[in-house]
Amino acid sequence: MPDSLTRINSDRLYAALDQLGQIGRYQDEETGLQGVCRLALSAEDGEGRRLVVGWMKELGLEVRVDRIGNVYARRAGRRADLKPVMLGSHIDSVPTAGRFDGCLGVLGALEIVRSLNEHKIETLRPVEVAFFTDEEGCRFGTDMLGSAVACGRLSLDYAYELKDRDGLRLRDELEKIGFLGDCDEHVTPPHAFLECHVEQGPMLIQKGVEVGVVSGVQSISWQALTIVGKSGHAGATPMDLRADAGVAASMINLKLREMIATGHYGEMRATMGAMTPHPGLVNIVPGKVEATVDLRNPSNELMQRSETDLLAFYEEVQKREKVEIRWRQTARTPAVPFSSRLQERIVAAAERAGLSHQSIIAGAGHDAQEFAAICPAAMVFCPGEYDGISHNPREFSTPKQCSDGINVLLEVLLQLANQEDL
Ligand code: GLV
Ligand code: MN
Ligand code: MN
Repeated sequence: MPDSLTRINSDRLYAALDQLGQIGRYQDEETGLQGVCRLALSAEDGEGRRLVVGWMKELGLEVRVDRIGNVYARRAGRRADLKPVMLGSHIDSVPTAGRFDGCLGVLGALEIVRSLNEHKIETLRPVEVAFFTDEEGCRFGTDMLGSAVACGRLSLDYAYELKDRDGLRLRDELEKIGFLGDCDEHVTPPHAFLECHVEQGPMLIQKGVEVGVVSGVQSISWQALTIVGKSGHAGATPMDLRADAGVAASMINLKLREMIATGHYGEMRATMGAMTPHPGLVNIVPGKVEATVDLRNPSNELMQRSETDLLAFYEEVQKREKVEIRWRQTARTPAVPFSSRLQERIVAAAERAGLSHQSIIAGAGHDAQEFAAICPAAMVFCPGEYDGISHNPREFSTPKQCSDGINVLLEVLLQLANQEDL
């Protein structure tokens, strides 16, 4: 980077990622690596939150917690009457995570503040760093939960009543870890929202590109399925008398692959990530399966088509396998484009820093997509090694890959925080 640009301290950022990554660490049998399990509102999430809030306070930020447990930390600007520029992401994790997903956006934002403090750089507008409750959706079933409540897509009541697999209520769990705040859950729209995140896919690394300029986020549709058949003896129940919920789940899973292969659904992706047969024993026909379906599509229209066709297929499976299929939508978001003006600023900042860049659509869901509904929002992606693998302990970005993205974010933040109008 040219010397005239303010830069973050890459080693310090990496050390913070490492320190947060120790909370919820476990030895992953499949990879032989140390992974991270910091499920939303678990004791580990509470510990991670307290570490990050401690850092926010050390930096002199004014911290507030809202009624859904989102945490906001404000650095004053010269004009308190102007809306802040917000930087944020999440620190909860999937059960088999690495150290970067979400954490890079939050700790990178804190490193930006640390650098501004160190260089005694004032901004016209306030700068806020935020982390949002349960972005992953792995525990309570709905992703981007905290940011969706903050930006008005989901209600606080809906969120409070969500339960995890053990029947524990979200509101109680929030209270238990000490993050049931009292600030209004509806965030005042900031001047702009920026998020830096690891790509979680192979595009940037395969092309050797240093910075991803995110054009938008694809549509996401999640369902929870309960398939009810009839359990019976594996050896004694004739095949024509079976209502096998396991077979029904397999039919649906294979159908998703067939749908994709037809090409009728564009860039559709589909995953049945959970399929639990009951009673789950070697010699019993499964009488029930609990399963999930995760659909992604950059096209809203094709997403809708895939949902309609999948529901029609459920009818067919019910008849063919003599089962009952109950389904419930647990998350549904449309494709969201990011602000083109902010994308242009990201491109210009990458060029000024001499970094190669490419426009890219996000494969995962992100908090920034919720903010896109209330203010200009944008994202910067950093490449990840090993084909950008994520939701896996092998997730890994180098100090340079991380700091390139955060430095670009810093540059754009300084522009936005020093302007009166966008
Ligand atoms: C969040 O990581 C998602 O599943 O998109
Ligand atoms: Mn994430
Ligand atoms: Mn994730």
